[in-house]
Amino acid sequence: MADWQKSSWRARPRIQMPDYTDAAALGAVESRLSRFPPLVFAGEARTLKSELAAVSRGEAFLLQGGDCAESFAEFSADTIRDTFKVMLQMAMVLTYGAKVPTVKVGRMAGQFAKPRSSATETIGDRELPSYRGDIINGFEFTPEARIPDPNRMLEAYTQAAATLNLLRAFSKGGFADVHRVHAWTLGFTDADEAGKYRDIANRIQDTLDFITAAGITADRNAELSTVDFYTSHEALLLEYEEALSRVDSLTGQNIAGSGHLIWIGDRTRQPDGAHVEFCRGVANPIGVKCGPSMTPSELKQLIEILNPGNEAGRLTLIARFGAGTVGDHLPALVQAVREEGANVVWSCDPMHGNTIKSASGYKTRPFESVLREVQEFFAVHNSEGTIPGGVHFEMTGKDVTECTGGVRAVSDEDLSDRYHTACDPRLNASQALELAFLVAEELRNRGMASTRAAVV
Ligand code: PEP
Ligand code: CO
Repeated sequence: MADWQKSSWRARPRIQMPDYTDAAALGAVESRLSRFPPLVFAGEARTLKSELAAVSRGEAFLLQGGDCAESFAEFSADTIRDTFKVMLQMAMVLTYGAKVPTVKVGRMAGQFAKPRSSATETIGDRELPSYRGDIINGFEFTPEARIPDPNRMLEAYTQAAATLNLLRAFSKGGFADVHRVHAWTLGFTDADEAGKYRDIANRIQDTLDFITAAGITADRNAELSTVDFYTSHEALLLEYEEALSRVDSLTGQNIAGSGHLIWIGDRTRQPDGAHVEFCRGVANPIGVKCGPSMTPSELKQLIEILNPGNEAGRLTLIARFGAGTVGDHLPALVQAVREEGANVVWSCDPMHGNTIKSASGYKTRPFESVLREVQEFFAVHNSEGTIPGGVHFEMTGKDVTECTGGVRAVSDEDLSDRYHTACDPRLNASQALELAFLVAEELRNRGMASTRAAVV
């Protein structure tokens, strides 16, 4: 790209990024990071792009999920395994329901930097700079912890590398073998959705047994015994992104080496801003969050800047409006995409428009609102004749109490029991799986609707 350099974002307005006070320390970190190996390779990002192209044609479904903010303190093999496991279960439910492959993308191995609605946070009579994610400053409410420290980028890199290493091991080393479909369910006991999951697992097991009994030996092939699992995060901290960008020796293209898919947040998607500038020059699949303030003409501009070649799989538009308002915003954006003849994946983030303060004072998200936004997203696509390509959840494999509702009915009073998030409230494993069943139902209904349309 002739007029782009990995540092050209520096000439653009930058928001939601820290002002590091120690320029020498920052420079030293950037220089070390730029010599480290990239975390992902260009070929993998290209493969994900081709899978997202299939999503844009309705031939696959995107499941993107994970922490709002990964944290240094919560980092453990168990946490990674549990999120991975629930995503495998959800993918199984979705694939079973929709009869198309599920493209699995974790908000993992790099999801550390957070945009904030306020620059400061006040507790009692004390006001301090806001926490901006472990890659930038500390969660602890002290003036020292809240000073941005560039060395945190090195720790984030190390944690991302170790996370990705484990994810690769789980994906290819036997854990994700579909013959273990029952083993992923361990940890669920009494809830309804666990029973429903076992039902599907039994049917899959039957099919595998049949294949083996029929003497078809393909049951141990790579398609069944391994999965592809990709990583993603918001490309917010551009010093980190620039230092990890690389030139792909095969194609000469620039690639963000920090994760397979990177996205631009709803607060930093200004067409002339630093974040759009960085993302336009790297060849990875790019996500753009679309909130209530996005106008059709802004969206057209972003499509033109970020995907001038109209490459399928390059752009994923992640709608996040809030339950009850999807119908006010999404149709005009869908029409803008149609007018441009643009290839995009439409995904639904039913989390970020549905955050409320509970009576008990915790930031929470009611499960009913999350589900309602997903249903509204499907309804708009059904009436526009466009493809609802995927979902984007903040979730964890742990049994936390951060979002209210669900079959196990987390109440306002329960929120204090296991409220562990460093940022936004996440669906727990049970709520995430329940949602997967409800999305699968939407997809099945849609499948029936399009078959009917074809018959008529
Ligand atoms: C997020 O995905 O964590 C986030 C901050 O989202 P948005 O940019 O949509 O507010
Ligand atoms: Co969030």
